[in-house]
Amino acid sequence: MSESPSRSGVFSTGSDERLVAFGESISFDHRLFRQDIRGSIAHARMLSQQGLLSDQEFQQIHDTLSDIQQEIERGEMEFRPELEDIHMHIESRLVERLGDVGRKLHTARSRNDQVNTDFRLWIREALDRVDSLLKQLQRAFLSRCEADFDVILPAYTHLQRAQPVLASHYWLAYIEKFQRDRDRVADCRKRVNVCGLGTAACAGTSLPIDRQATARELGFEAVAANSIDVSSDRDFVLESAFVLAMIAEHLSGWAEEWILWSTVEFNFIRLPHQFCTGSSIMPQKINPDTLELTRGKTARVVGNLHTLLVLVKGLPLAYNRDLQEDKPPLFDSFDTVEACLGLAIPIVTQSQLQRESISSRLDAGYLDATTLMEFLIRRGIPQRTAHHLVGKIVGFAQSRGIPLSKLTEEELKAFDERLDESLLDVLGAEQAVKAYQSFGSSQPDQVRSQILRWSEQLH
Ligand code: ARG
Repeated sequence: MSESPSRSGVFSTGSDERLVAFGESISFDHRLFRQDIRGSIAHARMLSQQGLLSDQEFQQIHDTLSDIQQEIERGEMEFRPELEDIHMHIESRLVERLGDVGRKLHTARSRNDQVNTDFRLWIREALDRVDSLLKQLQRAFLSRCEADFDVILPAYTHLQRAQPVLASHYWLAYIEKFQRDRDRVADCRKRVNVCGLGTAACAGTSLPIDRQATARELGFEAVAANSIDVSSDRDFVLESAFVLAMIAEHLSGWAEEWILWSTVEFNFIRLPHQFCTGSSIMPQKINPDTLELTRGKTARVVGNLHTLLVLVKGLPLAYNRDLQEDKPPLFDSFDTVEACLGLAIPIVTQSQLQRESISSRLDAGYLDATTLMEFLIRRGIPQRTAHHLVGKIVGFAQSRGIPLSKLTEEELKAFDERLDESLLDVLGAEQAVKAYQSFGSSQPDQVRSQILRWSEQLH
């Protein structure tokens, strides 16, 4: 049997050891210790301002909590499952050091609002770290834009060669995706940045506290207006898990693409060897394990979101102990996504396009067929007719094993009188890229102006 500070005089026995082992959360929520201490100091300061603690008591609590933080940082605090979680570890240590003064800290507070507040503080910092990593990754792609500006790549749909684009156009596509991720981080942060401290267990308190004061000290932008909502709310955890899952999905798609591009079959990119592994039996192998693991770990991040969605499903108001299970999945999602981003940045920076290999096969796959069709449309041929006609020309060129640009004027005229040699101006990948006109296309001036926009934005 085990005694715990949360068991009041109403209990006739201590806890069964099996419950102690089953119910502890210290093994994972110890990660909240800094936030817990910060929240407790803000709470104690407010209590003293409200006359619920003397100035001297506040000072003692303040100094001792700061000491306890250092103790934990030095690894000196022994974690004991019978104290359940980080909140009770810190409070018990305070009581051990200060006696009755320490016993006053939990005035007008419950672990329900405490957990909610600590986790929000932790997530707020973690979202800021993720945003900074995303920005570094965007910069890594941007730095490639200049270096690779003269490279043309095939764009694919259905993983079949479709149309030619500048390599920079690819890099800008990823910058756009990661910007949306950053926008989602910022939006999610707004709802994370709301203070529930002082809502107590679920109904508020009959003691004269000042919730605005603690919220201000903790840098929260708003004060939650309904105590029963705070006691039950985990929207901010689920939303963060979704934001992270979306980032992981983007990273996974990129990883898959570069895994393909690094094969002998594509040979578009050379990955930095320090992020690849070898084979114990096949000496020639250079395996893209970092990218494969980035793809693989996305499964965990998506799984964590699913775990959290199922966790809160059907919970009645307000706090339920189920909610303790919210931390392992979200910690794991942050750890995983931060690690993946931390590796993506140097891989994007240090990989090299295989220029020779790319350009030597740019003629293959009739990347300029759509531009040829559009050329005919400009000559007044209806789109459907031009589409059919160019299909026939591609079929003919295929049967001869040559690109469109190698057809003679005679051969072209045999398809349609209107096909003169001026159409040679739009054939070939380079000409086709220059022929684009629309906003957001891969036309070099368009791409340049996008690079400029991002250089300013990511400065
Ligand atoms: N360890 C619990 C958690 O993390 C603390 C909250 C306990 N509240 C309660 N009413 N038992 O959720």
